Amino acid sequence: MRLFFSLSIAVLAGASVAASSQPRVAPMSAPVAAQGVAQTPPMGWNSWNYFAEKIDDKGVRAAADQMVASGMRDAGYIYVNIDDTWEGERDASGTLHSNAKFPNMKALADYVHSRGLKLGIYSSPGPRTCAGYEGSLGHELQDAQLYASWGIDYLKYDLCSFIRAVMQKQAPNDKAEQMRLMVAAYEKMHQALQSTGRPMVYSFCQYGFDAVWEWAPSVGGNLWRTTDDIAPDMYHIYTNLSTQAGLEDYAGRGHWNDPDMLEVGNGKLTLAENRAHFSMWAMLAAPLLAGNDLPHMKPEIRAILTNREVIAIDQDPLGKQGSRVYSEGEVEVWTRHLAGGALAVAVLNMGNNRYSTHPFHLSLARLGLHGAQQAKDLWSGKELQLTEGTPLELASHDVLLVRIATPK
Ligand code: GAL
Repeated sequence: MRLFFSLSIAVLAGASVAASSQPRVAPMSAPVAAQGVAQTPPMGWNSWNYFAEKIDDKGVRAAADQMVASGMRDAGYIYVNIDDTWEGERDASGTLHSNAKFPNMKALADYVHSRGLKLGIYSSPGPRTCAGYEGSLGHELQDAQLYASWGIDYLKYDLCSFIRAVMQKQAPNDKAEQMRLMVAAYEKMHQALQSTGRPMVYSFCQYGFDAVWEWAPSVGGNLWRTTDDIAPDMYHIYTNLSTQAGLEDYAGRGHWNDPDMLEVGNGKLTLAENRAHFSMWAMLAAPLLAGNDLPHMKPEIRAILTNREVIAIDQDPLGKQGSRVYSEGEVEVWTRHLAGGALAVAVLNMGNNRYSTHPFHLSLARLGLHGAQQAKDLWSGKELQLTEGTPLELASHDVLLVRIATPK
């Protein structure tokens, strides 16, 4: 968890932690990851951001029910992912059992499947997970087979204790060897999952170490965290957003950069901030894993999470991650190329007060566009006519997200 986290990152400093460094080599051309899953960025819900260790069978069922009732499932949210703290003990044969919070994982999977959803689970390549529960070290095949027997559809594999227990222990002064051990551990679980014959989305969580985007697809990764943990405030959201600039070419069908799960509806985020966070994750072709308390979700949060036109940007079949084109003061302009030649444009005001960079004059020429453009504002639903230098008024931390169907 957080303490463990900062310690690990501090200890690994100098080991090309690299979430902020530039990519070093060209993306792999033939990822082995795909398995037909995650052809667009995975969508669903994960228990961690809101419930953390307070998640149990009942909570997962309630989340699944709410995904159906709220219309989220029909909008594309399919995976119901149990994060850390489900794990119990291993028996004499090494078989892992879920703990008392999850009395029957197979029955839970059956229930989730009966609702037209899929079930995800969590583990670590180390002996312990980040919250100190049983990890998969030495039991990779056994665990993969267990997941398959339960009917699991998605695995998040979180580095955690592998850093100390294996990397630092086996190669105390050799960072390159430490990284080799880490890659091998991710590949080992990939092979184990493959051998079960059950398609499972394979999600890497190792906070971006060693430029994960360069090697993850070749060892089975469908998505990989590029950053430290997110939190429900604009500092964390913006930090994770910024880290994606420069990683665009590493994302594509079956393999995605993951700036971490959504905080929409969590903490004290304002409506503008929730909208901005969701819009920018869509621009990034990021996995959309809601992390809020679904049974108590407010209608305005539901409206954000189920905005079909914004989801369509995220899920665009071209699978091309958006880029930051320019920034001026505290305002940033990002574009994303979409199937059929369309273009999404996001203008984000990161200023703390409305007037800091305002009005903002959007330059179409800097986006490679020529003359007036017909655009649709995906939050108001209104058609807009954008011209060179169009003045925009954006509230603090708000966003304008438009789709230009036929850019000129
Ligand atoms: C962190 C991870 C979080 C969550 C947590 C569980 O390492 O980044 O997303 O999974 O562990 O303990």
